[in-house]
Amino acid sequence: MSTPETDVHGCASSLVVPVAGPSGSGEARGSREAARRLGLAYLDTGAMYRALAWWCLDQHVDLHDRAAVAGAGERLPLVITTDPTEVHVLVDGADVSEQIRSTGVSEQVSLVATNLAVREQMRRRQRALIAEHPVGTVAEGRDITTVVAPDAAVRVLLTASEQARLERRARELHGSTDDDALAATHDQVVRRDRDDSTVSQFAVAADGVVTIDSSGLGFEQVVDAVLALVEQRTGRRPVVTA
Ligand code: DC
Repeated sequence: MSTPETDVHGCASSLVVPVAGPSGSGEARGSREAARRLGLAYLDTGAMYRALAWWCLDQHVDLHDRAAVAGAGERLPLVITTDPTEVHVLVDGADVSEQIRSTGVSEQVSLVATNLAVREQMRRRQRALIAEHPVGTVAEGRDITTVVAPDAAVRVLLTASEQARLERRARELHGSTDDDALAATHDQVVRRDRDDSTVSQFAVAADGVVTIDSSGLGFEQVVDAVLALVEQRTGRRPVVTA
């Protein structure tokens, strides 16, 4: 007999959990840890846009030249690993996992992410990466619940108040939530999300997408909320504990 966790042959069926959310909602760390505990692959789609932004800057491609950036997107020699315990991003064989998190990339990546031709390329790559993992994937990114994996059995939107998001990011980036740290984080949270929201809707849940408000939640509570929702909707329980 099949259960929510197995197909008719008793094999674990593929589970795709798309998680979207604005910067600082806990979407990145929360979905990665949920993937680890569920024994699934983890796909950080934002890292793919960052890798292209980094490559364009490295190759002196003008990020305002949409056709040139789209051309670079077609050629991008990208490998992104999907083990949630160790995510690496390689471009042309070089590990650029740290470089793609630099302030320069963070400030300019929206130019790449709002390029519609690039979005099509990235979505193709993302669907192929998700299909590579028969056990399943937790995939995180702005348009994941609505465009890349809209048919998933459980789809999550993590939200949080602007203040909570600013504080969470400031703590991650600067180890503090004092006024200077909040001001330094403002561009990466508020301005970038405003730019990105011109091409994908991630502030409000689409039909069938469940919202988790993480404003008052710590890291463990965000992970627990995602896992509880996955279990409720699919019957799939964590295979690894905290
Ligand atoms: O989540 P992040 O900060 O690493 O994302 C990097 C950029 O890519 C950011 O501008 C949002 C954008 N992005 C997107 O438009 N669609 C996705 N699926 C993932 C990220």
